[in-house]
Parts: sequence; C-alpha cells; structure tokens
Amino acid sequence: SPIGVPDLQQCELAMDASPTDPTMTLTLNCCLPIPSHKPRVFSFHKYKSKPRVRQAAHTVSDDYIAKYTRAYELMKALPDDDPRSFHTQADIHCAFCNFAYSQAGNGSVPLQVHFSWLFLPWHRWYLYWHERILQSLLGDPTFALVFWNWDDQRDGGNVMPAMFVPNGTALYDMNRNQNNLPPALVKLRPTTTGNDSAIVNQNLNDMYQDVVTATTAELFMGGAYRTGTDLSNSTVLDAPLGGTIEDGVHNGVHFWTGDPNLPLVQDMGTFTTASRDPIFYAHHSNVDRLWDKWKYDLPGGRRADHDDSDFLDAEFYFYDETASLVKVKVRDALDNSKLGVSYPTVAADELWVNYDP
Ligand code: C2O
Repeated sequence: SPIGVPDLQQCELAMDASPTDPTMTLTLNCCLPIPSHKPRVFSFHKYKSKPRVRQAAHTVSDDYIAKYTRAYELMKALPDDDPRSFHTQADIHCAFCNFAYSQAGNGSVPLQVHFSWLFLPWHRWYLYWHERILQSLLGDPTFALVFWNWDDQRDGGNVMPAMFVPNGTALYDMNRNQNNLPPALVKLRPTTTGNDSAIVNQNLNDMYQDVVTATTAELFMGGAYRTGTDLSNSTVLDAPLGGTIEDGVHNGVHFWTGDPNLPLVQDMGTFTTASRDPIFYAHHSNVDRLWDKWKYDLPGGRRADHDDSDFLDAEFYFYDETASLVKVKVRDALDNSKLGVSYPTVAADELWVNYDP
C-alpha cells in the first residue's frame, strides 16, 4: 500500500552517520512542531498559485538578489518553533530523511523520503511549501526560488552562484567547502579530477548518463517504496532503489558543497543539516527542473513517470504559509504547471543532451 502520513506524536532522535566512516555519527532532535488543529488537505482549489518562473541563480538581477535575501532574513527571523521558520524548514528535511518517524501502519519501519521513487515528488512539494512561505513573508505571491544551474558547462552556471557567497547575508552558510568558492568549477561526481576542461567533459558525461540514458521511471526516478519497504540500511553511497538523478549528480553537488573538514561534510554533505544552507533550495530547484527536462524535453519524445497507485497515492505532511499542517499526495506534484512553476529554456542543456560519450 502507499506510504501514508506519519504520527507526528511518535518522534525519535534523528541519526546520521558518515557514509565513509560509520563510527562518525550525528544525533539531532528534529522533531516537528505539532499544530493544535487538524491537518488541512491539499487541493488546487484551496491553494491557488500564481504562475511564476524560477530563474537561474547566476542570471538574476541585483534587485532580485536583494529581495531573495530579504525573504530569507524574514524566514530566519521567525522563532525556531514556528513551522514557517528557517529552523523548522531545515528540520523537515532532517526528520523525513533520518528516521525521526515511522511509516504509518508499520511502526517498526522508519520513514525515508530518499533512495526511491519518493525522492523527486517529495522534494518538489518541499520546495513548493518553502516558496509559498517566502512569498507570504514578502507579501509577493509571484516570488520564485532560483535554480542553481550546475549542469550548465558553458554559460556560467557551473560554479557556486555568487548570490550565496558573500559572508554575512541571509543566503550565506559558513559550512561549505572553502576550496569550492568561485571560480572553482562544480564537480558533479566526487571522483572527478583534472583541469577545468577535464571537469567540464566529465560533468557532461555524468549528465548524459544520469538523465539522457536513464529512459525509464525506474531508472531515473528510482524504485518502488511502499508501506513496509525498509531502507534503513541504505546510505548515500549504497542506495539500490535510488534513481540515477538522485544517486548521481544530485548527491555529487551535495558532497561538493559541504565542508570536507567537518565529520559529515556538513552542511550540504549530509541529510540532517543539508537544508540549513539556503543554497539547498536552489540546488533542488535544478533537480526539479531536470525532472521536467527528462519528462518533456529530450530527444525521443515524452518520458513517463511511475503510474503505480502506491506511487500516486503516497502522502506527505508539510506546513503551509499559515503554519498549518497540510497533507499532500504525490499525484498532485506531477505537473509543475498546475503548481504554477516553470523554468526558462536553458540553451546550454544541449551540450549534455547531445553529448557523445
Ligand atoms: Cu533530500 Cu538533496 O536531498
């Protein structure tokens, strides 16, 4: 049966271990605030969205960056126990990625939204609610996240976006690899070595392998995760049900961004802390864009998402912009246009789409 929403009253400490050294662990309380009233149920009717375009981070204007910074200042200024706070937003990722909750109807199996077909829709919803909260804090329903265009190997996207770099702004995070500040080129695999042209070539190859050659939903999105599926032994380095986009370039950018001098490559390099870095949401906007690219816009025609009802009917909890708990289904996340989200055409995509290995 499909994954249902967990009982938020039953929360454990979250545990994270270094993928390379399991004796290095991090234990965190990321239990989520429990609202006093009943959860709402998402519908497109109740939650209208204004059409908005998520632009590439390296292309936005100074005014846009100022507004983006202001949005995160407001979010960071909310008290930690406010469901809309940056603190709670980060805890949502920690809680559903590090076993704070059990699966509904199967208390012995922990809930995990990585390593399977849940990965893409869960993160799309996560961005959707995060963006709605930023919109409401700014009073601007057309405000949109940016995407970190790390797959762009030609037009300036494949470095850490400048807007996240200056120390002291609300978009800054000190826990990043200091050797990977601009102009260092993003490496989409931790194992990539060589000079800039070798990195670019390897990146194009990785994009081609993870997106173009992954023709089926099983390959690209990941395998089936239903009530009872136990992924508590999967790790970022060994996730057999994970899709190519997740296990490959997505994880690569997490590792590249986090600080290798910290035991778990925090913040971006590990689940418990990844979304404490505002760059996380721009990183995932690009993953989200690439899901659409994969589905609608590769040679050979449209590709199909999973259509199993255990996929479509899987349910998650998030918080809306009024701090209410809201229940959503995977099926409502499959069409970005219904959520009001679009991305511009990226000309440099052609370099990896047409890559000749
Ligand atoms: Cu929930 Cu990029 O990880």
